[in-house]
Amino acid sequence: MSELIPVLSKEQIRTLVEKVAKQISVDYKGKELILIGVLKGAYIFCADIAREITLDRLKVDFLRAASYGGGTTSTEEIKLTKDIDIDITGAHVLVVEDIVDTGLTLRFLIDHLKSYNPASIKICTMIDKKERRKVDLQADYACHVVQEGFLIGYGLDYDEKYRNLPGIYEMKL
Ligand code: IMP
Ligand code: MG
Repeated sequence: MSELIPVLSKEQIRTLVEKVAKQISVDYKGKELILIGVLKGAYIFCADIAREITLDRLKVDFLRAASYGGGTTSTEEIKLTKDIDIDITGAHVLVVEDIVDTGLTLRFLIDHLKSYNPASIKICTMIDKKERRKVDLQADYACHVVQEGFLIGYGLDYDEKYRNLPGIYEMKL
């Protein structure tokens, strides 16, 4: 059994999500915003942040990228396995991610979304993990920053497990 070290409690996550949602609500005031959640990891974060954003013209969509096998390191091959359904041409888009690690997944997804010519495209992540970044990519909104470690819970998985944990933990393998 691997050891799970608490990183963020359910209550701490709630406070962080509320704070970031408030900032997004201010920044996009009067605008139509489309949240694009990255499946599967961001499903919980996206649901939570969407409910805290107070814009009345908020839309939500999802896409899916596959980059992980069953292990804990990013492979460099990324595939789009589900595209968005909403037309984002000329729209303000905020990509909602669970965690940015090397940045390769988001780089790939952003390049893909840019091909639809949105008015703007920004990144909102639950966790910004700094140490292994391989591309020049900054999250515009991040709830929590860590240097390193493999995290699970609140949507984040290890071999498809632990997504249902309400808190976030570092997994010591
Ligand atoms: P990147 O392409 O290296 O930035 O990796 C991004 C994706 O890898 C995330 O969307 C996660 O699905 C997965 N990932 C990266 N780090 C972790 C982690 O610590 N725990 C769980 N999944 C992770
Ligand atoms: Mg992900």
